[in-house]
Amino acid sequence: MARILITSAIPYINGIKHLGNLVGSQLPADLFARFNRAMGHEVMFICATDEHGTPAELAAAKAGKPVDVYCAEMHEVQKDLAAGFRLSFDHFGRSSSQRNHRLTQHFAGKLAENGLIEEVSEKQVFSIDDNRFLPDRYITGTCPNCGYEAARGDQCENCTKQLDPTDLINPRSSISGSTNLEVRETKHLYLRQRSLRDKLEAWIDSKHDWPILTTSIAKKWLNDGDGLQDRGITRDLHWGIPVKKGDQPWPGMEGKVFYVWFDAPIEYIAATAEWADANGKADADWERWWRTDMGAADVTYYQFMGKDNVPFHTLSFPATILGSGEPWKMVDYLKSFNYLNYDGGQFSTSQGRGVFMDQALSILPADYWRWWLLSHAPESSDSEFTWENFQTSVNKDLADVLGNLVSRVTKFAVSKFGNDVPAGGHFGPLETALIADLGARITDYTRLMEQMEVRKAAAELRAIWVIGNEYLQAAAPWSVVKTDPEQAQAIIRLALNLIRVYAVLSAPFIPDASATMLQAMGTDDQSWPHDISAAMRALPAGHAFTVPENLFRKITDEERSDWQARFSGVRT
Ligand code: MF3
Ligand code: ZN
Repeated sequence: MARILITSAIPYINGIKHLGNLVGSQLPADLFARFNRAMGHEVMFICATDEHGTPAELAAAKAGKPVDVYCAEMHEVQKDLAAGFRLSFDHFGRSSSQRNHRLTQHFAGKLAENGLIEEVSEKQVFSIDDNRFLPDRYITGTCPNCGYEAARGDQCENCTKQLDPTDLINPRSSISGSTNLEVRETKHLYLRQRSLRDKLEAWIDSKHDWPILTTSIAKKWLNDGDGLQDRGITRDLHWGIPVKKGDQPWPGMEGKVFYVWFDAPIEYIAATAEWADANGKADADWERWWRTDMGAADVTYYQFMGKDNVPFHTLSFPATILGSGEPWKMVDYLKSFNYLNYDGGQFSTSQGRGVFMDQALSILPADYWRWWLLSHAPESSDSEFTWENFQTSVNKDLADVLGNLVSRVTKFAVSKFGNDVPAGGHFGPLETALIADLGARITDYTRLMEQMEVRKAAAELRAIWVIGNEYLQAAAPWSVVKTDPEQAQAIIRLALNLIRVYAVLSAPFIPDASATMLQAMGTDDQSWPHDISAAMRALPAGHAFTVPENLFRKITDEERSDWQARFSGVRT
């Protein structure tokens, strides 16, 4: 039994995520967690909300709520949606937790002890009425180059000229509109990442099995001129983790917080500590996942994320960990994803374009989305959601192939032989051939799941469903029953066992349908069919079963065009 630590990139707190966000991190991480549990491994699957930074503050202001209240509410909303999608986190934490405060301050203290922190003085615009420093993007004014009146502090949208906030004519706060601004001196902490470059490179080079997408992004940032810069890890904001050196004050840094990208990945560790707190466990119970001196040396750690997150996980977070000089567990395998596009364009949170997690669940159950998203995961390239494709996948794969097999077999069995697995006949050549074919395909499927080849695994699972249907077509129990009822019983005995095997194999993709199938088969035997011959005899003659309710319904053309119109534009 192996010990498997899995983290999904932690979603920003401000707003409900769309399906593109979901398929790039949380959903494939869940697939992998479920699969590894089914393999009998000990799994720790962690996610959280990413709660700091200006976007959280602005979203709270827009909602008219104090930022801590807003975050607490949105955390519950995201947690409920995650449960709705059956994301099986062991813990869904919060980056604003006390655990993360303490750990983030701890790491900063260690980095300072190791001479890796530099204090830098900068000039920044301060808004007297807002009582805060303004990040460049939150200062608006007239462009000195083209006269555009709504230019941002970092760039003019109209003429694209890169700007410094102090270049703007009539600058004002984008938050309050106030023009009561002044330039103030402010001090920030920089993490001296450049001095860790060689260590980082050696670490990345030691990873021979990473996907090309991951390594190429890491290498690009490591080697490009502007790649591995020393990086500011503090901000002049009110909301965030107060800058401290361990549990000691940091002179000159009063009133400042850590930059959101410094504390967010540390939350992977903190959330595991939150899991321990929430479950009455001791510190040693989470440390055995994260401290290589406390048992984590035999943990294999997998991270899941979209490609935009890769630099932070291959360079910045490892720099924090390596720089601490402490024996923290580092990632072993980093699975990254391209983008999912939406119906000829991009998903857009700001424009509300595409399907968001709450909307998706309001029109169809989780399994429909899970199946489509995972079987079309943007692995080797970007992929695209279209309603036509979604309709076809659901109607063919789920309703026609899997759902139909289950309902045909169970209904026929009950009508001819009653509610127990029939005892007659013996497996013949067709059955032997099916079992051999299944065995080979299950070996292949298991390997693809181990390798996190999400699309290929889905294709193999679909193929496994298809050969069951082909077998039934060929074996034709509905005809055979008229001439050789004993043989028809053997066919049905095999087919009922096939349903249990399908439930087990399909559970990581479509957990609800899987549970329904197992329940109908009157069993909670979820053992993985490593030995297919034995697995096809797991439900013995005389074992009671029932006909499940319809597993999947079809999407009509009318619904399809309805939804297409409904989700094309601005979210209302
Ligand atoms: N919130 C970020 C995003 O959605 C991901 C943060 S992942 C972690 O892109 F590294 F910070 F944890
Ligand atoms: Zn301009």
